[in-house]
Amino acid sequence: MPRLMNLSRAARLVGVTRVALQKKIKEGLLPSFEGMVTEEGLLQVYPDIQFEDNTFFARIGRTKVMDKGVRAFERLPGKEVLFARLTSLGKELSETQAELMRYRAMAEGLEEQLTTWRDAGEEVQAAAASLKTWLQQALQIGDYRAGFHNLAIRDSFLRVMAAHVQLQPSGHEFFVEGADTLLEAALRAGHALNYGCSNGKCGQCKARVVSGELLKVRSHEYVLSENEKSSGYALMCSNTAVSDVVIEAGEAAVVTDIPLQQVTAHVKSIDPLGGEMLLLHLRTSHDQRLRFLAGQKVVLRLGHSLSAELPVAGCPCDDRNLPFHIHVTPGNPFSDYVASNLKVGDGVTVEGPQGGFVLRNDFPRSLIFIAFGTGFAAVKGLMEQAMALDSAESIHLYWVVSHESDLYFSNWPRAMADALDNFRYTPLVAGTHLETAAGRQEKLLGGLLQRIGDECPALSDFDVYVAGPEPLTDGARKWLLEHGLPAAQLMVGAGL
Ligand code: FES
Repeated sequence: MPRLMNLSRAARLVGVTRVALQKKIKEGLLPSFEGMVTEEGLLQVYPDIQFEDNTFFARIGRTKVMDKGVRAFERLPGKEVLFARLTSLGKELSETQAELMRYRAMAEGLEEQLTTWRDAGEEVQAAAASLKTWLQQALQIGDYRAGFHNLAIRDSFLRVMAAHVQLQPSGHEFFVEGADTLLEAALRAGHALNYGCSNGKCGQCKARVVSGELLKVRSHEYVLSENEKSSGYALMCSNTAVSDVVIEAGEAAVVTDIPLQQVTAHVKSIDPLGGEMLLLHLRTSHDQRLRFLAGQKVVLRLGHSLSAELPVAGCPCDDRNLPFHIHVTPGNPFSDYVASNLKVGDGVTVEGPQGGFVLRNDFPRSLIFIAFGTGFAAVKGLMEQAMALDSAESIHLYWVVSHESDLYFSNWPRAMADALDNFRYTPLVAGTHLETAAGRQEKLLGGLLQRIGDECPALSDFDVYVAGPEPLTDGARKWLLEHGLPAAQLMVGAGL
């Protein structure tokens, strides 16, 4: 019987993205059975798999393009996790070997039984002889073709490096790598698992393990009741996965599922971006993460008197990092203070999150993001989450600005377009100040947006996210709806 595997594992096995496999399925090249694929099917589409293939290892140590194009390598599991995973794999291997020996003994017994049918009629003897020959051949051949062999080796290797997790009831999937807890791995993969303190104190990340094995990697103060323990409950912020696991866990589905919080973060760096923009990089402490959805805003407070409401220019998948794009406007006390007085290590109070400009749940379509000026900050968070989820067939970013110099962080989308096959970036420059182009704004905007219409004529195939100053997002909304985008597929972040 062919072995079925989920798309996430299959994609890792052959070193491509899930989206690439979905495309093959859509094109009819790769058969799928209720969302699963077989080794046979994979080998037909990717026949040249070699275990030693460098692209495979490159994929395992997959590089992640971070802010400013810095590349960071994914983590290896620690000694304890490695030992537990090898033990689990060894157990599975010995069970498989025992099963194989039982089958072999059965086949040999059957062969012996067939030789005792000497006194049967000629017809039965001929059938027995042919069955015996078939059995001998089947026992010798097995499935030792090179492709299957390489897949099996890769699969074992991957299972030591990372465990696969499926969440119920959503069906979301992700891998746990390095010394990550289940909570950290879920957030990295773009999933909004329920949690509170992230530090073993509150019990809000409690979830039920349906199958598979966990290992405690962080201590916790919260005490699970005997009843909870015997029902399979565990804390996601304290445990990692040793084997592939299925977990019944709550996830935030809408913005109201995320509570308002107040945390203190510290300045990690302040760097100039292009033009009058600064990148303020805050980092929360281990026991004070900020729970938010990509695209949402927070209020930053500096001391008692200075504050600003800004979108987080990143995604919860980027660990405890909170990047903000600050427009330095002379005479604005907040941006003046950030530019001249704020130092690395200073504390900043972060309150939030707020706002409903977030990714739709389980988006099935390709995505278009239209960022007007600094609306890029919120859009960047959404794109990072979409990339972490690896569900969009393609992501197109159109960054619409008045002047070339307003593309203050264009090395980031360029790096993304270089690194990812399914990411496209198009800057659209008006050549005049768009927000003050009274009387001409609609015409100017229409001319710029027509580029999107030319490149994506069937707008109804896309989900479109628009962010930026209100007059411009309003103009874009009107244009997009007039050009065939269904209203339900348009998300607008006005005033971002
Ligand atoms: S998030 Fe508080 S105990 Fe896990």
